[in-house]
Amino acid sequence: HQYNTILVERVGRVGIITLNRPKALNALCGELTTEMLDQLVKFDADINIGAVIITGGSKVFAAGADIKEFEGKGMVDLMNKDSLNWTLGFKNIRKPIIAVVNGYALGGGCELAMMCDMIYAGESAVFGQPEIKLGIIPGAGGTQRLVKAVGKSKAMEICLTGTVNMKAQEALQFGLVSSVHPVEKVMQAALKTATIIASQSQPVISLIKASINNSFEVPLQAGLDYERKAIQMAFGTKDKIEGVKAFIEKRKPLFSHL
Ligand code: HXC
Repeated sequence: HQYNTILVERVGRVGIITLNRPKALNALCGELTTEMLDQLVKFDADINIGAVIITGGSKVFAAGADIKEFEGKGMVDLMNKDSLNWTLGFKNIRKPIIAVVNGYALGGGCELAMMCDMIYAGESAVFGQPEIKLGIIPGAGGTQRLVKAVGKSKAMEICLTGTVNMKAQEALQFGLVSSVHPVEKVMQAALKTATIIASQSQPVISLIKASINNSFEVPLQAGLDYERKAIQMAFGTKDKIEGVKAFIEKRKPLFSHL
C-alpha cells in the first residue's frame, strides 16, 4: 500500500511508522491520521510484528493538528464528522507502541505521543499544549493524559498558558518520557527496547499492556482482579510452558507467540 503522509518500515519484528509531512512540521491532517491508523491496525494484525514505533523523524515529531483544516469549521461540523475518531482506534491496538520524539511535539503531537505506551525523547524534544492560543482546548487527550503523566499543577500550567513547554530533560524528570538520548541515537535506543519487547511472547505482552492501561480506568481492586485473570490467561499459553521449561533447562526460550 502506498501512503502519501507516512513512511512504513520493518526492522526484524518491529514495525516503524514515520510521519512524513516535513513542510507542515508533520501536522496531523485527516489523511495522515487515517493512514497512520490504517498501518497501525495492519501491524497489530501481523504475526511477524511484535512492537511498533511511531516517530516524526529526527527534526520534528508533530506540530499538532493541521490548523489549516480548522478554518471554516464550527461546532456542528465537529459534532457531525468527528475528526478525532482516529484517537479511539489506538485503544484497540494490542501491541506496544513506542513514540520516538525529536523536536516539537505540540498540541495533537504531544497528545499522539501520550497515546503511545511509552515515549523515548531525543535531546531536542519539546512538549507543549498551545491549543489555548487558538481559542480551543487540548481535545485529543491532553487534559486527561498529561495530568496523569506529569501531575495537576504542571498540566494546568502547560494547558492554561499554551506557552509553557517541557523540554526533554524536564519531561524525563516529570515522568512523561522513559529516557532521553542524543537525537542521532534515540531511534536506535527505542529500536533496541522494541526488539526486546517483540522477542517476548506476543499474547502475554498484550496481557501486560492491557493490564497496565486498565489501571488508568478502574479502582485498584478492580485492576488487581483484572490482573489476576490476566495471569491465569498467561498460564494458558504455550509460551508460558516454554518460558518455564527454558529457565529450568538453563537455555533461552523459543516463543511461538501462542
Ligand atoms: C498546519 C502547520 C502547523 C500546524 C506548523 N505548520 N504547524 N500547519 N498545522 N499545526 C506549518 C506552518 O504553517 C509553515 O507552513 C510550516 O509548517 C513551518 O512552520 P513555521 O511556523 O514557519 O516554523 P517555525 O517558525 O519553526 O515554528 C514552529 C512552531 C510553529 C512553533 C511549531 O509552526 C507553531 O506554532 N505551530 C503551531 C503549533 C500549534 O498551535 N499546535 C496545536 C495545533 S491545535 P508554511 O506553508 O507557512 O511554510 C491541536 C489540537 C489537537 O493540535 C486536538 C483537538 C482538535
